[in-house]
Amino acid sequence: MNFSLKDKSVGFIGMGNMGQAILRGLVTSETVDPTKIFVHNRSQGKVQKVVGLYGCQSTSTAEDLVDKSDIVILATKPQDLLELLEPLRNAFNEDKVVISLAAGIQLRTLKKYIPKANLVRVMPNTPIFICKAVIGFCMSHSDLIVENLVKKLFSPLGHVVSLEEGDPFSAFTVASASGTGFVFELMHYWQDWILEHGISEEEAKRITIETFLGTALLAASEEGLSIEQLTEKVASKKGVTAAGLQSMRELELEGILRMSFNKAVMRDHELGKNQ
Ligand SMILES: NC(=O)c1ccc[n+]([C@@H]2O[C@H](COP(=O)([O-])OP(=O)(O)OC[C@H]3O[C@@H](n4cnc5c(N)ncnc54)[C@H](OP(=O)(O)O)[C@@H]3O)[C@@H](O)[C@H]2O)c1
Repeated sequence: MNFSLKDKSVGFIGMGNMGQAILRGLVTSETVDPTKIFVHNRSQGKVQKVVGLYGCQSTSTAEDLVDKSDIVILATKPQDLLELLEPLRNAFNEDKVVISLAAGIQLRTLKKYIPKANLVRVMPNTPIFICKAVIGFCMSHSDLIVENLVKKLFSPLGHVVSLEEGDPFSAFTVASASGTGFVFELMHYWQDWILEHGISEEEAKRITIETFLGTALLAASEEGLSIEQLTEKVASKKGVTAAGLQSMRELELEGILRMSFNKAVMRDHELGKNQ
């Protein structure tokens, strides 16, 4: 099985927010030839839009899409996925790679509906809309060719991480996918505090964004330093930053965050059990 992307066709079932973001990323980065991309969606408007925009092809049925595609990306909401897969059980074969984006639907559940094919679960976070995502994936069985294919396919959209399903994938989901929401929550408090000190809302938002952005870029540029070392570097002894950091530690900010992350992991497990 040769999995160079050049000669492979990619099909999308579901052309909502995530499906369109991935399609756009693959076409604009020239990772996949648009004439080798097939799309299928429940409502027709989205299909017409992307066919017009990117020059990909539509299929009238999901079965036809599976037949024409080497790689099938399942991009419906989790609650629509299993009903969609039920009649497709025999459409897949061992040569297909099936990538599910559905949060909470585990590989063993997918395996029941798609007994043949290479199964992959992918979890992107929302910065995928600007090609700055962190994208985690796990596979039904270890296969270097499929692993490289998934990395090639998704790397134009962000940083791609291979994970084991179970605790690592769940922790990744919380830290990265939910993490975007957690960081926004922190940014909200930042902005509100700035606002209370006589700075306009527009400027407070900008200051907050630039502080988070600049800090992340600085951390990325200082590859040799740990995040802990970077924190020490910006806080001089008995200085202003050190006073704030000491208070955060005394108030146990870390404990609050850990508890919140663990609550989110528990919810992820609950959703997984219901499948
Ligand atoms: N959005 C995110 O930030 C995010 C992050 C991580 C993972 N995900 C995962 O990505 C997946 C897609 O999420 P989304 O936000 O893109 O959802 P969405 O915008 O609601 O898109 C889902 C699409 O699937 C289509 N669809 C539903 N049932 C179908 C069927 N039987 N056949 C063909 N098409 C069907 C819907 O068609 P209609 O036009 O008829 O509604 C809709 O266009 C989900 O599984 C989600 O868990 C999303």
